[in-house]
Amino acid sequence: MPRAVKPPYALRQVLVCTNLRDPSTGKPSCGMNGGTTFREHLKKAVKERGLKGQVMVTGTSCMDYCPAQGCVVAFYPENEWQIVDANPENEERVLARAIAGPG
Ligand code: FES
Repeated sequence: MPRAVKPPYALRQVLVCTNLRDPSTGKPSCGMNGGTTFREHLKKAVKERGLKGQVMVTGTSCMDYCPAQGCVVAFYPENEWQIVDANPENEERVLARAIAGPG
């Protein structure tokens, strides 16, 4: 029987698709579009800024969007999804969005 547990992070969760699909399939994947590095940079920024108890960054498998460019990011608890180009400017945007909530 499932057992309820208390979430380790109280405020926000950011899911980043890091799925890496074999390029020979011809279908894009967030991992090929920088999703893995984007997630790693977000996690590092959360730690460096002392936000570890406020924002949790989690890598996921495919979230069924599979954009040709960028990676899928989802913000919880709002359930807001974005396709984001994996670059430092957008790392800042995603972090700010995660901290502030929906604007
Ligand atoms: S590979 Fe990221 S949504 Fe499918």
